[in-house]
Amino acid sequence: MEYGKVYIVLILHIFMQIRYNPFNPQQPAKPHFFVGREQEVKCFENFLGQTIYNSPMNMTITGDRGMGKTSILNKFEEIADNQRALVVNVSNYEGNVKDVIELSEFLITNIQREIISRNPISKKINEFGKWVSSFKARIEVKGITIALEKKQIVEYILREKLEEIWKNVKEMYTSIVILIDEAESLENMDGLTFLREVFQKVQSNSNYMIVLAGKFNFPEKMSEQFSPLNRFFPAERLRRLTEKDVSNYLENRLNDTEVNIDKEAIYNLFKKSEGHPYVLVCIGFLVFDSLKTNEMAINSDVVERSIWKIRGKLSQDFFTPMFYPLSPQAKRIICKIAKEIKGLKFTMNEATLITNMPNNQLSGYFGEFLKRGILTKPSRGVYWIFHTQFKEYLIHNSDKFN
Ligand SMILES: Nc1ncnc2c1ncn2[C@@H]1O[C@H](COP(=O)(O)OP(=O)(O)O)[C@@H](O)[C@H]1O
Ligand SMILES: [Mg+2]
Repeated sequence: MEYGKVYIVLILHIFMQIRYNPFNPQQPAKPHFFVGREQEVKCFENFLGQTIYNSPMNMTITGDRGMGKTSILNKFEEIADNQRALVVNVSNYEGNVKDVIELSEFLITNIQREIISRNPISKKINEFGKWVSSFKARIEVKGITIALEKKQIVEYILREKLEEIWKNVKEMYTSIVILIDEAESLENMDGLTFLREVFQKVQSNSNYMIVLAGKFNFPEKMSEQFSPLNRFFPAERLRRLTEKDVSNYLENRLNDTEVNIDKEAIYNLFKKSEGHPYVLVCIGFLVFDSLKTNEMAINSDVVERSIWKIRGKLSQDFFTPMFYPLSPQAKRIICKIAKEIKGLKFTMNEATLITNMPNNQLSGYFGEFLKRGILTKPSRGVYWIFHTQFKEYLIHNSDKFN
């Protein structure tokens, strides 16, 4: 008994010493501390309004890793929820969905699950419990063999299902908003064209809205700019947070704690993160973590003394996973460029001089760098290394490849 007491007090004592760190780089932003993205949010609100008034519109959020795609979808979820939409927020994590049949089943089961979880005892829902019958089973029953025909039948069945669902819930909800995160793999399996074919028809009489998020290629391709896909899923690219956003974010998060931050430190964190959301949160976490128990303020000294920890952590969690999978030659190329250029920006011509490689040979590698988010391409023939901290990481690693 006595021992038990001592034990509890000891635990409490240890527990009281642990400070709550308001920065969490592992989790997407919660809507109440979500900052910036005014344009994207406005666009979403407009399109949702259209959808509710029987004129559905869709959108796409594109952006590299850590730019805030999952966070903005969660923000959209909250907005749509407040507009009495039925919101289905799903992720095609690790490309689980492999073909259009799986995609159809994925959509239907997730919509159903959402309806059932919100209306667990609704009689109306139970009446059409036949829903639960598997989508796949229905397709297999038809015994289709020819690929094209099969696709059309899948489209047809999915449309039918979606329309049926809408008919059954439209008294309860203003619209059905489907948010699909990590949707880039749908691009490769022709899933986007499929969704367009299906929803274009469904949306003529049902209030569905689709928002895709991921690292897409289609919005960037010149040949695709006026394509049906771009018109149906117009894309917003997430860019860096502004200085104001960063300042709002830091102040808001620290409000949950006893710790203050001064203007200079805010500016310093903005500069170091370059407004990259993931980098910002990661730095915030480490800086906060480095506070001593009696320290109640973050100033530039505190920030500076965390710099080595910041570099180490960013390398380990963010940069190495991006860089490591490259081929030895690709590593050599990007390290060499990082070492030779002044800032972050360079042109294709400069790259050919630095690497001694012809244009056409380099462009294959650059495609890979762009895909991995190592480079961004603001305009034709111009490239950026995505972050100064990453450039330093490359320079640091370049010794190994020369
Ligand atoms: N608008 C935002 N406001 C506040 N924090 C954000 C915002 N966008 C992203 N973050 C933070 O940045 C990190 C990465 O965001 P996340 O949404 O997971 O990016 P992605 O899905 O593009 O990889 C998370 O820790 C998240 O909290
Ligand atoms: Mg994400």
